[in-house]
Amino acid sequence: MIGAMSSGQGSIANNETGLREVYRGGKAALNQFRRSFAVRQPEPARTLLAMAPGWVRTDLGGSDAPLGVEDSIPRLVNVMLAQFGTPGVQFVDYRGRTVPW
Ligand SMILES: NC(=O)c1ccc[n+]([C@@H]2O[C@H](COP(=O)([O-])OP(=O)(O)OC[C@H]3O[C@@H](n4cnc5c(N)ncnc54)[C@H](OP(=O)(O)O)[C@@H]3O)[C@@H](O)[C@H]2O)c1
Repeated sequence: MIGAMSSGQGSIANNETGLREVYRGGKAALNQFRRSFAVRQPEPARTLLAMAPGWVRTDLGGSDAPLGVEDSIPRLVNVMLAQFGTPGVQFVDYRGRTVPW
């Protein structure tokens, strides 16, 4: 299993507001690499996740974010454990919800 820290802002489908274009583009590129890696990897397919941690109070997220690291990270770990052994690539958030690419 490999989990990559993406962002909800990497979702092209959900981009209805714009802003932070370079960040969005970087995370969308990460997701694209993730998918390419997934389709090129030999069998048996591993579990590959692009993960959106929610809006988290860090230097990047700022003090207004609703989640602390202590809220987000254990939930991301739980999502990884729940997906362990599922072959293929998914874009999921810290609640285990699928995020549209
Ligand atoms: N916070 C959010 O709301 C949020 C939401 C979605 C996704 N994410 C993702 O979660 C991840 C962590 O973000 P964060 O909120 O914890 O950000 P952060 O508080 O700004 O921390 C970023 C970390 O990355 C390190 N870093 C930055 N540039 C680096 C480089 N060139 N080489 C090595 N390390 C480097 C920094 O190290 P130093 O401390 O040494 O500078 C710092 O530890 C990022 O991928 C971010 O995109 C965060």
